[in-house]
Amino acid sequence: MSSQAQSIQMPHSRQGSPMWSSRLAFILAATGSAVGLGNIWKFPYITGENGGGAFVIVYLLCIAMIGLPILIAEIYLGRRGRMSPINTMKYLARADGSSPHWKYLGWMGVLAAFLILSFYSVIGGWSIAYVGHAVSGDFNLADSATIGAMFGSMLQSPSTLLTWHSVFVLMVVAILSGGIRGGLEKTVNILMPLLFLLLLVMVGYAMSTSEFMRAVDFLFTPDFSKLSTEGVLTALGHAFFTLSLGSCAMMAYGSFLPKEVSIVKTSVAIAVVDTLVALLAGLAIFPLVFANGMEPGAGPGLIFQTLPLAFGQMPAGTLFASLFFFLLLVAAITSAISMLEPAIEWLEEQRGINRRLAAVIAGVAVWSVGLLSVFSLNTWADFYPLSFMPVFAEKTFFDVIDYLTANIMLPLGGLFIVLYVGRCMKPEILSQELGLKGMPFRLLMFLIRYLSPALVMVVFIYNLI
Ligand code: PHE
Repeated sequence: MSSQAQSIQMPHSRQGSPMWSSRLAFILAATGSAVGLGNIWKFPYITGENGGGAFVIVYLLCIAMIGLPILIAEIYLGRRGRMSPINTMKYLARADGSSPHWKYLGWMGVLAAFLILSFYSVIGGWSIAYVGHAVSGDFNLADSATIGAMFGSMLQSPSTLLTWHSVFVLMVVAILSGGIRGGLEKTVNILMPLLFLLLLVMVGYAMSTSEFMRAVDFLFTPDFSKLSTEGVLTALGHAFFTLSLGSCAMMAYGSFLPKEVSIVKTSVAIAVVDTLVALLAGLAIFPLVFANGMEPGAGPGLIFQTLPLAFGQMPAGTLFASLFFFLLLVAAITSAISMLEPAIEWLEEQRGINRRLAAVIAGVAVWSVGLLSVFSLNTWADFYPLSFMPVFAEKTFFDVIDYLTANIMLPLGGLFIVLYVGRCMKPEILSQELGLKGMPFRLLMFLIRYLSPALVMVVFIYNLI
């Protein structure tokens, strides 16, 4: 924490409480937050829907020029405040002599993460259901019609979705009740590298199929005529989503980061691993999509309908399928935990309740909101709650929450984070605490002060018009 921040009263500051045990522990936890359904489920299907290569290029640019600077800024704010995001913003703004309204940035982030979790846990529930299918050998030699029907009947059944949604939320609450260090750190230490390894195995398998080069071409040869304005907005929104930005999740994790760890190097590592995982997921999935004559733009069902087909054909497919969906579930859980962490920290600090109770309260709340998404997939599939607004036309509750968070709240949160760090803080403090000088620091300041806010705003205004 800077001496300037220390001189003001920080009533909730966690001086002396446990931190991440090492730089690696933080990288794995933050990568655990970043790498999730966004990489393995969402990235491939939105890339498919938006025509491939051109979308990927815009996405990579968004990560490097907008995502990375915001990631650095967000982790930095967390470490400087050492409180829940809401109180971090409140007290840092006071320390820096800025408006107390900055605390609403914390509020918006906490709310965004909470809303994301409400539907994320429904999809996390799909992966639990699929672990079950995989272990029981349901994919063995199944044809695409059978696999399609399996997915369809899951979505059509509110009770199935509700069961797995509940189990997922319960797991998240159980882990969070135990605090940051014990369970989470140990889990990600083993499972994140394993996920990476399994993806490589999947890519290896995909390389042996006839359509691998077509997939490489699809992912890396840009055809800008296939990219719509909405596609650009989706790429930007996804850059935020996949790096968990603007939701204060990284801020909350950063609040436990030991002082001596380099935020810049750590952030680069997180962004690189996250991007690699997304690209590898694309390289694992699209060859199978093409080889089976399926549509890359199949939408949210892509990995739940194409991968099982491939597993059903490959040797030891039951084993690989079980491991894959288990690890998808783990990736989802390590992200989900980071979504509820900001709210729990706030409940603990502000209401003075213990961690277990805070986790239960937050869990019950998120479970309840999740019901909207559960029913959006079946009973309310034709109900478009905000159809009077053109952007939300033909969007169910599920789609509205997804669009609102990924395309509006996260970018807005990220925008305000860089505005705060770039405009309200003294550059000398930043330079000193990030350990950056000269050209690299000037480049970072240029990105934080001008380029990322300008790009986010341009895309925003375009969207409004
Ligand atoms: N980054 C996560 C993913 O890619 C999603 C996430 C969003 C996590 C916001 C935390 C906060 O799946």
